[in-house]
Amino acid sequence: MLLRFPFEYFTSKSDTIMSYLSQIQNTEQSWSESKAQLLAVGIFQNQELTPLGQTIDEHLAGVISKAVRLDDLTGKPGESRTFYDDDRIILVMGLGKKEDFDSEAIRKAGGSIAKTALSMKVTSLAVECLCTCSEKLDCQALAEGLVLGSYRFNSHRTGGEDGPDLEDVTVLGGDETKLSKGAIIANGVCLARDLGNHPANVATPTRLAEEAQRIGAKGDMNITIFDRQEIVEQGMGALAAVAQGSDEPPKFITLEYRGGPENQKPIALVGKGLTFDSGGISIKPSGKMDEMKFDMCGSAVVLGVMQAVAELKPALNIIGVIPSTENLLGAKAFKPGDILKAYNGKTIEVLNTDAEGRLILADALSYVTKKHDLEYALDFATLTGAVLVALGHHATGIMGTDEELIQKVKASSARTGEKVWDFPLWDEYCDEVKSKVADVKNLGNERNAGTIAGGAFLKEFVENDTPWVHFDIAGSAWGEKEKPYGPKAGATGNMIRLVIDLLKI
Ligand code: BES
Ligand code: ZN
Ligand code: ZN
Repeated sequence: MLLRFPFEYFTSKSDTIMSYLSQIQNTEQSWSESKAQLLAVGIFQNQELTPLGQTIDEHLAGVISKAVRLDDLTGKPGESRTFYDDDRIILVMGLGKKEDFDSEAIRKAGGSIAKTALSMKVTSLAVECLCTCSEKLDCQALAEGLVLGSYRFNSHRTGGEDGPDLEDVTVLGGDETKLSKGAIIANGVCLARDLGNHPANVATPTRLAEEAQRIGAKGDMNITIFDRQEIVEQGMGALAAVAQGSDEPPKFITLEYRGGPENQKPIALVGKGLTFDSGGISIKPSGKMDEMKFDMCGSAVVLGVMQAVAELKPALNIIGVIPSTENLLGAKAFKPGDILKAYNGKTIEVLNTDAEGRLILADALSYVTKKHDLEYALDFATLTGAVLVALGHHATGIMGTDEELIQKVKASSARTGEKVWDFPLWDEYCDEVKSKVADVKNLGNERNAGTIAGGAFLKEFVENDTPWVHFDIAGSAWGEKEKPYGPKAGATGNMIRLVIDLLKI
């Protein structure tokens, strides 16, 4: 069945209870008129208060300065103290060194303020516009920090023990457009976190398709969804093989956004949507297997970006592609030794059914690069455990075919604070995925350069010399040490902000 938007596809009710701020208000009113329960101002590490901090200090007869003099308030990043006005609490947040106060620092400050407000169980918050502290700053990063810091995943907890959500956050004298842009981008990140955190019995391929429908409706996108039969008919033999072992219906999802001129080449974003990876017949050890619900985080990057695109409506053409299935061990499961044919006609020898991400991406990459003359293609995938060995949870491994594009990705990484590190795709590595019985095999050399082998395999399926960069997010998609604007645990939504910066949205 080929489904195109608009139509009724919603088979199950959305069970995402939004536990994050959807927007940030702005006001030109004075702080004294604000009805918020909590008012947040800042202090730098040289113990200089922000402009509103100084005003409040005077209003409170110098009590904040006293705390500074007693060294109880030092301005270290994330360290805060509370003071009390008649019917409101004053939060003085440490901002770190003034000379280091860049967009990442302001994002962190926003995150710390939101988290502190949540821990104090207040529902309304007014925040000083901290961007006025330095010329090079704007309100986008502040809004991102506030929304990202407000994120909690509690939709499956029935007791309400986490306290109330933040309902009303207002920046005093900020830039409304920038605040709104930051909130929209951060909402895309929060959507990706939710999709990642939902277990595999909720975040199914069908559910991902429904999210694509919802986003498509909002952003006037053309949505195409192939079911199992169409996947086979299209010649996507690798995705079809991985999906064979599960009764859960697989989906091949395409979101097409045409906001740019007709002659403008589209950009493709491809995301691995493996909603549960048991390893298949090459089964994984059971310890931590639950974490394989996160194996669709690549698709969550694509959906998070597309949701922001739907709202920001940039003058660009963007195609999102998500191959989505489970990798299980049912009676029809594919087996080591099987030879598959991908969408571009190349044959693949399966040596390990757990290297399934590259299989489903082979069809997705060859489909989108064969069908479209693209400006470039990016793929996002929790592809290899080896990237965790190399980089830990701190960075995303990247590699690709176009040095200029890689440099642009690195520049966006520096601007957004989302770390990437590049690996070489030299011929020596590419030779390692050649098979003796088929065109390629889904493993490289045993135990060596596993992350690069994944990239080298995918390269075989990028058609038309399309400039392409692969993002191995197996380390960065979840499990990161808590950052001020990051989640306590679980999915991070990393790479969405980087992509939005790269696309100059
Ligand atoms: N989804 C996994 C990769 C993964 C492993 C992500 C651990 C995060 C944590 C992927 O499908 C996989 O199983 N890859 C194998 C490839 C190997 C068989 C060549 C791996 O990394 O072990
Ligand atoms: Zn696997
Ligand atoms: Zn996987």
